[in-house]
Amino acid sequence: MTPIPDLLTGLLQQAASAAGLDPAAIAPVVPTRDPSHGEYQSNSAFKLAKAARKAPRDVAALLAEHLPDHPAIGRTEVAGPGFLNLWLGDAWLGERLAAQCDAPRFGVPAREGCVVIDYSSPNVAKRMHVGHMRSTIIGEALARLHRFVGYEVIADNHLGDWGTQFGKLIVAWHRWLDPDAFRADAIGELQRIYVRFHEAAKDDPALDDLARAETAKLQSGDPENLALWSQFIDVSMIEFNTIYERLDVSFDVVYGESHYNERLQSLVDELLAAGVAADSEGAVVVPFEKADGKGLADTALVIRKSDGAALYGTTDLATIEERIQTWDPVRILYVTAHPQQLHFRQVFAAARKAGWTKPELEHVWFGMLTLPEGKLASREGRVITLKDLLDEAHRRARVLVDEKSPHLPEDERDEIAEAVGVGAVRYADLSQNPQSNIVFDWDKMISLDGNTAPFLMYSYARCRNIQSKGEIQDRSLVAFTPSHPLERELAVALLGFPEVVELALGTYRANLLCDYLFGVAKALNRFYGDCPVLRSEGETLATRLALVEASARVLGAGMQLLGIRPLDRM
Ligand code: ARG
Repeated sequence: MTPIPDLLTGLLQQAASAAGLDPAAIAPVVPTRDPSHGEYQSNSAFKLAKAARKAPRDVAALLAEHLPDHPAIGRTEVAGPGFLNLWLGDAWLGERLAAQCDAPRFGVPAREGCVVIDYSSPNVAKRMHVGHMRSTIIGEALARLHRFVGYEVIADNHLGDWGTQFGKLIVAWHRWLDPDAFRADAIGELQRIYVRFHEAAKDDPALDDLARAETAKLQSGDPENLALWSQFIDVSMIEFNTIYERLDVSFDVVYGESHYNERLQSLVDELLAAGVAADSEGAVVVPFEKADGKGLADTALVIRKSDGAALYGTTDLATIEERIQTWDPVRILYVTAHPQQLHFRQVFAAARKAGWTKPELEHVWFGMLTLPEGKLASREGRVITLKDLLDEAHRRARVLVDEKSPHLPEDERDEIAEAVGVGAVRYADLSQNPQSNIVFDWDKMISLDGNTAPFLMYSYARCRNIQSKGEIQDRSLVAFTPSHPLERELAVALLGFPEVVELALGTYRANLLCDYLFGVAKALNRFYGDCPVLRSEGETLATRLALVEASARVLGAGMQLLGIRPLDRM
């Protein structure tokens, strides 16, 4: 299925040839934001006019005149200094929308190859923080988008499960562990004894030596330390998994940093032998110059400390090497907060120097998310955990659901509240430019009005509600012809889905998809307000039912990509 912008661009190229102009100078046609400028727009006349020494408006008119007869084009208009505005043909629009909604991937061209997405990646024995939640939510949306268009996606949770902190934890475990506290809240207790270690080590530096010795024992395979370490991982995973379950996130592999341990020393040796890495005052580094990338001039990535230990960057390089050997991916995405930008620029530059040039390496970084001051402080003055955050969202959503749908059974209301609450948290995160800092605003995000998950969910449920009220069993889509302006507006909005999927995919920005779905939901509401569905008849009824079904499919698919559950009633 040719994307609409490509189809229209092709028609304009034909028009250019027919008018004796250069078809190669036709720029891609783009969808417009303001419907008064047409549904699609071409600005090619400006470039053509220069070469032809004509006025752009005249060239735009010439193109319009020479457009081949095609049902996709309903109307054209020369606007402003030389834009050519295009409106789709009514009948073609309805036919295309029906076909598009039935096509695999809504007509988005299929992709091939493997994409590895490294996200969530919390650190063992520590509580997941809001940054890890953002990584989980954004990474999952990217994984779903990539899967949707046909990539084979490997969702990889790159746990922080190795390093010197484990020696410290083992020392602390033997000295200060409170077994009851550990049973009640394992990660909380591990965090407590870890902090305790640092406090004690301030006065007693010998503790650091002990910790180093325990780390060394662990790394050389001491069974007792290995057992403790794997217990730390197990209890951490139990807690992480409860969050993943609530967020409906799953990983294809959970290879923590420890998974790459065996490769580290040989990799450093290889990089040294290849001249990619060099000795530097007893350590081994990969040195960079200006040409290696932005901000890299005179920096270096340390890959072996003078005491022989490997580092975070060493693991990341070994990880790239193994991912290439295992999956031969076309792309690897890393989703972390912004402070790791330099780290990844260095790792990517080192990978290029090592000759690993096939996968595109991309750091998808995000800004900070903060909670509104004080609003979430727990009664006991505890640090707010992600569980607390999701519980609070659930509680607030429950108030909304109880108010809107008191007639639904209690357990269904509770289930809806979970979907709405978690969906609202997710959407509040995804609907903003990932690179800006955001503050949660509970009232806004749980509201039914505005660019929120509840609004989208409600709009979707409304479609399903119309269908069940009308006892519409047949949900197949057939060609229809919109006639009312609001039918048309909705149909055009729905047609834009594949284009926005491309855009979100190409920029790694799910917020573009959110904006789009918000636009669809608004168009649906305007349509619904002015165009009674079940009270209409004949062709009008068929058209409106088709629009309801197409809306449900597009909203439903878009919400799934974001990880928001479309519910038939709420
Ligand atoms: N564990 C790290 C952190 O919490 C994130 C790991 C990101 N992925 C990676 N391959 N470095 O900051």
